[in-house]
Amino acid sequence: TFSKHGCPPLVCPHSSSCRLFFPEDPVKIVRGQGQYLYDEQGGEYIDCINNVAHVGHCHPLVVQAAHEQNQVLNTNSRYLHDNIVDYAQRLSETLPEKLCVFYFLNSGSEANDLALRLARQYTGHQDVVVLDHAYHGHLSSLIDISPYKFRYLDGQKEWVHVAPLPDTYRGPYREDHPNPAVAYANEVKRVVSNAQEKGRKVTTPSTFNPSTAREKKK
Ligand SMILES: Cc1ncc(COP(=O)(O)O)c(C=O)c1O
Repeated sequence: TFSKHGCPPLVCPHSSSCRLFFPEDPVKIVRGQGQYLYDEQGGEYIDCINNVAHVGHCHPLVVQAAHEQNQVLNTNSRYLHDNIVDYAQRLSETLPEKLCVFYFLNSGSEANDLALRLARQYTGHQDVVVLDHAYHGHLSSLIDISPYKFRYLDGQKEWVHVAPLPDTYRGPYREDHPNPAVAYANEVKRVVSNAQEKGRKVTTPSTFNPSTAREKKK
């Protein structure tokens, strides 16, 4: 095992953009359980940063189900399998009736990239309105719509429009505002109109016409 300061390489010799988190005092995590992460010295951390383990780290039921499935079949989802159908049915019971088509993916990045493709296919437009500070994943398509990333990389593409994050603590409309929800929604309207004035194609629910959008794609 490597001590945390001996983990090679702490700094990538080939590129300054390849950096370690918390470089001055890197965190070496060796296991997780429930809401806790543990370092190599047994130090316990409450995990307030990761968003991957929705039911806590190493939940015994998740570990057991993954183990059982790995013993049977681990492949992509191009085949039929009872578990996919069963899972989709159980999910659909928790959702409004309209949300009844499921596409299972590996990661948030994959899901968001597919969401972009679906939206573009459906509207026939390329433009996207995103919230400031957002992060949507590490694919090129998602870095382009993640202000938190693109500001430090290639910058904002002309088809990306950034609306302020509705943050009543630090944002432009705070708790003392009479109606922050409407104020932030109006900001989105402003961002959309500015984009439209520049000739960009952004549809809103009130102007969206699915038949013409699909017509254009033919
Ligand atoms: C808000 C948000 N969206 C998308 C992603 C990407 O998810 P994944 O790492 O599963 O590709 C992350 C990952 O941290 C995220 O925080």
